[in-house]
Amino acid sequence: MHEQDIPSVAQIEQNSFPTPWSTNSFFSEIHKSRSIAKVAVLDGTVIGYICAEHVLDEGHILNLAVHPDYRRMRIAECLVKNIVEALKLKKCRFLYLEVRASNLTAQRLYKGLSFKFIGVRKNYYLAPEEDAAIMMRDI
Ligand SMILES: CC(C)(COP(=O)(O)OP(=O)(O)OC[C@H]1O[C@@H](n2cnc3c(N)ncnc32)[C@H](O)[C@@H]1OP(=O)(O)O)[C@@H](O)C(=O)NCCC(=O)NCCS
Repeated sequence: MHEQDIPSVAQIEQNSFPTPWSTNSFFSEIHKSRSIAKVAVLDGTVIGYICAEHVLDEGHILNLAVHPDYRRMRIAECLVKNIVEALKLKKCRFLYLEVRASNLTAQRLYKGLSFKFIGVRKNYYLAPEEDAAIMMRDI
């Protein structure tokens, strides 16, 4: 993800989440030394993105979305597999994420990619307030 991708990324973000990240959040994310942010591009158009961070041997997926017109085409699966490879190069051994308890679509995606449920963060999300399921897989 480069600065010029951010307007398209922010548009997908707006269409994907009740409390979307701001444009500034993406700008600051791509300049952090421990961050890896990638976009999926089709014919020059950004159609999805993933943001992760790494600390020691742990990676953490912070954000993932695919443009509504391009869902169910394995774009998210491709983005997660790609970030796993990138985190492997950073010597990460474990990968974590949080997902809204009601987001069964994303949970199904992650289960299909070998993530397991390991716990719950109570009232982790706001607007609407909701628990997060914590998921993890080995890298
Ligand atoms: C969740 C999301 C990223 C999935 O993106 P995607 O590119 O459509 O997902 P994929 O095509 O790679 O799907 C891979 C698998 O995930 C599961 N899956 C994805 N979308 C699904 C849906 N709408 N219903 C049921 N299962 C679904 C399926 O198992 C699917 O495999 P299959 O198509 O062979 O059945 C996308 O729906 C999205 O952007 N949602 C809004 C943002 C969001 O919830 N992000 C995750 C935050 S934790």
